[in-house]
Formats: sequence, structure tokens, C-alpha cells
Amino acid sequence: MAVRLTVNGRERTVEVENDTPLLWVVRDELGLKGTKFGCGMGLCGACTVHLNGQPVRSCSTPVEMAEGAEVVTIEGLATDGDLHPLQRAWVEHGVPQCGYCQSGQIMSAAHLLQNSRSPSREDIVAAVSGNLCRCGTYSRIVAAVESVVENRADQSGHGEA
Ligand code: FES
Repeated sequence: MAVRLTVNGRERTVEVENDTPLLWVVRDELGLKGTKFGCGMGLCGACTVHLNGQPVRSCSTPVEMAEGAEVVTIEGLATDGDLHPLQRAWVEHGVPQCGYCQSGQIMSAAHLLQNSRSPSREDIVAAVSGNLCRCGTYSRIVAAVESVVENRADQSGHGEA
């Protein structure tokens, strides 16, 4: 079937079986390799993308569910070449070790920050709790997200919200 969807702001049409995982469409049909295959069973979070603003496991999301929808992948977070604040924080905090799970981690954190101006540490931990990291980078993940939240607060204090 032909599936029409918008990926990172660009309308795309792909010819695939309707039950093809969205992950394969993103990676193999559209060439966006930042989204990773981990468990393939909806358990690890490495394949997290946003579907109509919600984080989903693209490995277990049939592409037919994305018909007419807006999909954002890790490649779509930067705007006009400027990294997303989370991406900058990831670099500044040296978060990744092997790096494999990190795009999924960032997509989960990005959803949190889109929906909460000043999440608590508990909120941050909860937001990424479904994203597994075999290297155990969790403390750096939380520190990086907290730094973005703190920068937001500083900017608000200077009237630059
Ligand atoms: Fe999709 Fe693990 S690869 S949740």
C-alpha cells in the first residue's frame, strides 16, 4: 500500500506492506538511520520516535498507524542546523558511552520538555524510564536534561522565555 506521512516536516509517500514497522520505513525507506533497532519487541526504547507528538516504539508501530500523521525522528529535532538544546546538553555532559540507545533517550526527554516547562528530577527519571541503557549512562542523562531545565529557568529570569 502507499502510505503518506510527514517525517521531520517533509511529506513522504512510501510503498510498503501496511504492517511494516514504522522503524523500517524510517531507516530503510527514508534513510534516517539515527533511530535504532534494539529488541524489536517494544521493550528497550531504542527505536523511539514521535508520532503526532507522542513517543512511540517504532519497531512495534505498523506504518499504517502513521498514515497522514506527523513523525519526528532524532534527525528532526535540530532546527536550521542548530542542535536541539537536549542534543547540545548531551554533548556538553558527554552522555553517550556506546551511544546506541541515545537517540531514543533524547526523543523521550524531548517529549517531556515539550509538555513540561520545569519537570522535576522524578519527572525526568520517569520520562526516560522505558529507555534502557546497557552502558548505564542514566545519571548523565538526568544531569543533561536537568541542565536544559535550569537553562530555561535562567532565561525566564532574564525575560527571554
Ligand atoms: Fe523498539 Fe526495542 S527496538 S523497543
